Amino acid sequence: MNYFLVHLLVLAAILPWVQCDAPPASTLYLSETNTTFSINLPDNSSDVYIYFSSPAFSWVAVGAGDKMANSLSFIMYPSANNKNVTISPRIASGHSEPTFAPEIQIESLPGTTINNDTLVLNAVCHNCRTWRGGSLDVSSTTQPWIYAFGPDLELQSNSQHAPLRRHHAYGHFTMNMVQASGAGGVPEPSTVMNGAQLVGAEKEDNGNQATVAHAILIAFAILVMTPINVVLVGLFKTFNLHIWFSVLVMMFIIAGFGLGISISGEYNRSKHFSSPHQVLGFITIIAFLAIGVLGGFQSRQLRVPSTNAPRQATKLDTAHTWLARGAWLLAVINGGLGLQFASSPMHTRIIYALVTLALTLPMVIVYLLVWRRQRVTKEKFDEDRDVVLEAYYLSQPKPIH
Ligand code: HEM
Ligand code: HEM
Repeated sequence: MNYFLVHLLVLAAILPWVQCDAPPASTLYLSETNTTFSINLPDNSSDVYIYFSSPAFSWVAVGAGDKMANSLSFIMYPSANNKNVTISPRIASGHSEPTFAPEIQIESLPGTTINNDTLVLNAVCHNCRTWRGGSLDVSSTTQPWIYAFGPDLELQSNSQHAPLRRHHAYGHFTMNMVQASGAGGVPEPSTVMNGAQLVGAEKEDNGNQATVAHAILIAFAILVMTPINVVLVGLFKTFNLHIWFSVLVMMFIIAGFGLGISISGEYNRSKHFSSPHQVLGFITIIAFLAIGVLGGFQSRQLRVPSTNAPRQATKLDTAHTWLARGAWLLAVINGGLGLQFASSPMHTRIIYALVTLALTLPMVIVYLLVWRRQRVTKEKFDEDRDVVLEAYYLSQPKPIH
């Protein structure tokens, strides 16, 4: 009898372990990026358990739905101290940055960590089976999902609103919801595709190139073309060339500006056009247009037949010159603001600062040369005029007293 009791006790001790067997799950495994996403749907509640692990790109996301618009995305990125994972549930309204959905109650569970640069999330969501814009079909064996990887940039934040840069790759897959249903619990880590299937090939996305093109077009116009333009007009006095070159500079600036407007709609931080970078950008562009208009009036003044005297700077000339200098400075400052706004890496910001400095010094030298030449020309003209006047007075008959 005692023997039987001992057996019973041993069985009772083992039973909970047997019941604690891995919870049922469906798993997406992407071998190229070593990314695992598993879900479990407990049949005694409306929770959803999630296991999600991936190497740390700036961000990694999985979304319930067949396309970005209206899908519920679970976006994860490293926390501010790079030791934990921030999970941000977001809903997108279209092909633009998804917005944080505060009504989604998702909780990180023990085991969530960053391990050897791999983000590991164990989580439970209490109301993820329906959301504004969609729902999970728990009876489906082919529930549509999407995934995406952020660009290889640094992002560390505790905020669920953290600004994201557009993905560098994305894809579609389906999951078997029936297989994932049963006893509840966080799915076990796995490196095997199970109950999930990729739909189509993963797609590379070069969307961030528009931002880079925006920056390069304007920076090239400001940092490279404008100094050449100053030399053309200041040192070589080639006014016609200056006019055509200025038109070219404006074309670069306007093209970059157009790209700036179009990318603004993609991000939560820029879609209201109210960031300092965008506001200063608008002011700078208006200043550049005003310079062009002033230049147009000046070119009419230049057509007036001139004497040999050095042309005295008109009020229009002074306004044009100082507006151009001011706009140039604003544009340089705004480039720095843009890099900060786009969370560009520190080395890019340092390179920008160094290039700006390296180009500003020769500009100062050119300005000094122009100023010296203007003074010398004026002194020479004054001297010549004195000589001519003196000769004139000498040639005049002396008055008889
Ligand atoms: C800053 C954040 C994001 C931006 C600016 C963005 C922007 C875009 C754009 C412009 C497209 C169209 C690209 C093309 O035509 O090839 C697109 C497509 C796509 N994106 Fe995003 N996206 C962002 C975040 C996400 C996230 C978090 C996910 C996944 C969870 C995702 C998944 C997809 C997928 C699957 C597509 C393919 C088309 C579709 O299904 O709608 N995106 N995205
Ligand atoms: C003088 C004018 C401007 C300059 C020099 C400039 C320069 C820059 C630079 C250097 C970046 C960083 C790009 C990167 O790191 O990849 C940037 C980003 C950006 N610019 Fe401008 N920009 C100017 C005007 C504007 C204007 C007028 C707008 C729109 C109204 C605009 C919209 C944006 C947006 C939305 C981003 C950030 C995109 C992101 O977060 O990924 N910019 N700009």
